[in-house]
Amino acid sequence: MSAPAAGTAIRTKSPHPSKFERAIVVGASSGMGAELAKQLAAEGAHVALVGRRESELEAVAATIRAAGGRAIVAKHDVTAYEDVPRVYEALTKEMGGLDLLVYCSGAQYNPDESVYDFAQDREMIEVNVIGAIAWTQLAAAHFEAQRGGTIVGISSIAGERGRRTMPGYTTSKAAMSTWMEALRNRIARYGVNVVTIKPGFVDTAKTAHLAKKPMVISPAKAAELILKAAHRGGSPSVFVPGQWQLVALIIRHIPSFLFRKLNL
Ligand SMILES: NC(=O)c1ccc[n+]([C@@H]2O[C@H](COP(=O)([O-])OP(=O)(O)OC[C@H]3O[C@@H](n4cnc5c(N)ncnc54)[C@H](OP(=O)(O)O)[C@@H]3O)[C@@H](O)[C@H]2O)c1
Repeated sequence: MSAPAAGTAIRTKSPHPSKFERAIVVGASSGMGAELAKQLAAEGAHVALVGRRESELEAVAATIRAAGGRAIVAKHDVTAYEDVPRVYEALTKEMGGLDLLVYCSGAQYNPDESVYDFAQDREMIEVNVIGAIAWTQLAAAHFEAQRGGTIVGISSIAGERGRRTMPGYTTSKAAMSTWMEALRNRIARYGVNVVTIKPGFVDTAKTAHLAKKPMVISPAKAAELILKAAHRGGSPSVFVPGQWQLVALIIRHIPSFLFRKLNL
């Protein structure tokens, strides 16, 4: 092995060992998804922004382009499952391939006690679970074939237990976390990095109605922590921020007869 030339910097550890050249962010019109798209573009990635609200997507894309980044936009409702392959292929083709898929789309309703709303529960399952399966499955097949790539799914700490205040949402996030784990167990062996993100409280439209938001962080901070986990590799499942891991550990061990008495 030849010695490096005098004055050559030796980089022992890059802050971003896996650089993302091309990324799709599903649910990029606001909140964490918009921040993820902006931060990915700032790192040099060509980013595709997906969601229903085209004007919000275009506004995020304009911010990215004004800062010298590259962004394209696709108006898409994730519950239009039959459209997913066409949108995925069009965006991937336009960017010349794909290294990262982030599934950030999410629906959340917190019904009052004694309210049972099938339409809301159905929407949460359709967006948070079936949409996630439709999008991540395509990326999984693609990344398995190319022997590399990263899939990030934004789940939630809410999926750790079935909560009386949000039955549909906690069910959907538990299912999403299980799906991500199964995907990881299936394709990590092919060099694909499958990352599950379980945020606590993040200051977005989803939590605007809440009076108390312990340990709340900004969407920008959440995006920074999510990308750090995605770059690290090793298919992690991480709480964002990390302090929620201890909370989750405690919550998981509360016996059922006690948990049902808590107003969670
Ligand atoms: N905020 C928190 O405290 C928190 C905590 C844990 C987990 N999360 C999760 O984090 C993710 C992002 O949420 P956020 O807090 O950043 O809130 P947000 O600003 O409301 O973002 C939600 C995103 O989901 C997209 N979306 C919703 N329904 C969709 C549909 N049918 N088709 C396509 N996209 C759809 C929205 O885009 P369009 O409306 O433009 O379609 C939007 O971009 C969600 O999965 C949420 O469950 C949030």
